[in-house]
Amino acid sequence: MTTSSADPGSLLARRARLLAPTYQLFYEQPLQLVRAAGVWMYDQAGRRYLDAYNNVPVVGHCHPRVVAALTHQARTLNTHTRYLAEQPLQLAEQLLATLSLPDGRVIFTCTGSEANDLAVRIAKGVTGGRGFIITEFAYHGVTDAIAGMSPEDGGPLGPGVYTVAAPLGPQRAASFGERVRECIGRMQADGVGLAGMLVDTIFSSDGVCAEPRGFLADAVNAVHAAGGLFIADEVQPGFGRLGEAMWGFQRHGIVPDLVTMGKPMGNGHPVAAVAGRSEVFAQFARGRRYFNTYGGNSVSCATALAVLEVISAEQLLENARHSGAQLQRGLRALAQRHSVIREVRGAGLFLGVQLGANPASGLSGAAETRRIVNGMCRRGVLVGATGRDGDVLKIRPPLTLEAQHAELLLTALDQTLQSAT
Ligand SMILES: Cc1ncc(COP(=O)(O)O)c(C=O)c1O
Repeated sequence: MTTSSADPGSLLARRARLLAPTYQLFYEQPLQLVRAAGVWMYDQAGRRYLDAYNNVPVVGHCHPRVVAALTHQARTLNTHTRYLAEQPLQLAEQLLATLSLPDGRVIFTCTGSEANDLAVRIAKGVTGGRGFIITEFAYHGVTDAIAGMSPEDGGPLGPGVYTVAAPLGPQRAASFGERVRECIGRMQADGVGLAGMLVDTIFSSDGVCAEPRGFLADAVNAVHAAGGLFIADEVQPGFGRLGEAMWGFQRHGIVPDLVTMGKPMGNGHPVAAVAGRSEVFAQFARGRRYFNTYGGNSVSCATALAVLEVISAEQLLENARHSGAQLQRGLRALAQRHSVIREVRGAGLFLGVQLGANPASGLSGAAETRRIVNGMCRRGVLVGATGRDGDVLKIRPPLTLEAQHAELLLTALDQTLQSAT
């Protein structure tokens, strides 16, 4: 058993002494959260917070059905994919049924970073190219290759990595395909062979881009015409968050060559995967194996199966659609009264609220966003910030969010916008 310290101050000091300085804490007054259930998280003093930030607990924190499946499997058997077993097959079957990839196959990993790393390796192996297109402020994970494709983290781009401006706003979305074509032209001029394009289909770190539906299709056609593969990173939007379908790419009417998924897949337990057409994997597998010790282990598969069951049994796509629409209506109503809200973007329960400078306080858009994130935390609602300029409120609650929770969030935002703190 670990012991829990009652004093956030001493935890802060120990963190500074024990953990590498790469870690960052949320909020001016960092939270010490000690338990959670459904949409609520509780701090060490027993205060509860509405979680409108964490996309991982997609079916709600510590969902009893998921916890029961996880603990039952942990008590029964936990082993890897080198033995015959039901769970990885059931999980692959169920995922593929939602993905509508022609003759699809799955490889399990433990994290979204591993899934993207593998998908990029496959694309390079299959095409013989080294060049990749990503968006300007993308985040795709932490391995060496993928950190080079994650400009949000501030490091240099990897070799052969080219960026295009994110499809923020209808105009830039409409011309996204054009920008991708122009980028392919730049690569060709540099003598870099195209391996593919990797995008998060909700463009979360770029600031949330969802509309108009279908804008990705032209870009994907351009990549295919140039011989590259399209990888849909579904680590953020996947598992029903966007309300209309299980996967973000499905809003664009496209069929990716590879799909990566993670985060919500285990509702907090690390499990992730790459799915794709069998011929893509077959070409990659020629003369090569891929074994990931924990990818596809029995406990992870049982947990992910339970997540899929709950999404279906509790009709969470429908709820994401309805609660998301309620939130969007409320946010647009707030925009009528608060001019700092410039735009409300997103789909289902993945929303981005674009803020501008506050003429009353003189705060820049980014400073106003920080003020609101902290003010809402003090009012008991957790949201985050995103976008290249850090001026977009990121709202991504569990898909179990109910009307009363959405009202609470809107009230807290209204109060924070009105107040000076
Ligand atoms: C779009 C996207 N892809 C991939 C990842 C990496 O996933 P993980 O942290 O599980 O490695 C993240 C993590 O934030 C992400 O947001």
